[in-house]
Amino acid sequence: MSGHDKGHLEREIELHKRLASHYEDRYRDAFSQVFQQEWNRALLAINRRPVDRVLELGCGSGILLKELKARSRFVVGFDVSPDMMRRARPLGAPLVTGNGSVLPFRDASFDLVSCRGVLHHLPDVPAALREIHRVLRPGGELILSEPSNDWWLVRFARELMYRLSDKFDEDDEGFRSEPFRALLHSLGFGDVRMERFGYSAYVLAGFPDHLPILRYVPGNVCLTKMLVRLDRLWARVPGLRGMSLQLLFSAKRAG
Ligand SMILES: C[S@@+](CC[C@H](N)C(=O)[O-])C[C@H]1O[C@@H](n2cnc3c(N)ncnc32)[C@H](O)[C@@H]1O
Repeated sequence: MSGHDKGHLEREIELHKRLASHYEDRYRDAFSQVFQQEWNRALLAINRRPVDRVLELGCGSGILLKELKARSRFVVGFDVSPDMMRRARPLGAPLVTGNGSVLPFRDASFDLVSCRGVLHHLPDVPAALREIHRVLRPGGELILSEPSNDWWLVRFARELMYRLSDKFDEDDEGFRSEPFRALLHSLGFGDVRMERFGYSAYVLAGFPDHLPILRYVPGNVCLTKMLVRLDRLWARVPGLRGMSLQLLFSAKRAG
């Protein structure tokens, strides 16, 4: 690992140590839970087969781990930050601490690897994807949701936020869909599919710790449900769907 990558990794550990104490604040409000359920639903909907053994990479406080546990026989949570994972402990899944670019699991151990908002924090994304490929069984599937940098306005806003907010590292970066798809192919993943997610509800209901506007709006649960429906339509409109804030990908290790 280069000195620059090592510095980034160390800063991520420090960053998440600091964020861990109030991270759950993001998921506290009822309207935010409505949105988070929708995000998990959209991500899990792109997994195409029932699965037994799952690795939730970058599980953080366990928001997706909970859902995965309900659907699969064996789920492991993995994260670089023990402080973030402390909140996932009551879920009762095995939790392993480590760097996503060097996974401490045997080859072909998992049917599914999931990542929700994790890869953009990693200093070496190709290394992490190589490791994910290695620990997936042949035919196993990677599902992920990561910040999109496809639309110029989102790219600009994200760049500004990552530089100015103390909740991100300056080296964190979103992804553009076509280079990311090409990267997956170049690393040996096949059957790569992409969906788009995250428009109005993502901005207004997704991060009340950053943008607390809806906390002060009466009927915020109903409003979030309406925004969620609007966003499902938005994701289908040619010419507008590219404005999404998240990219959902699924890719398989050749079987
Ligand atoms: C934005 S949080 C997302 C957490 C969780 N997936 C969620 O959706 O709430 C990013 C997570 O990635 C973890 N992370 C950052 N760098 C990592 C690395 N190199 N290896 C593994 N996990 C890492 C952080 O500790 C944090 O829990």
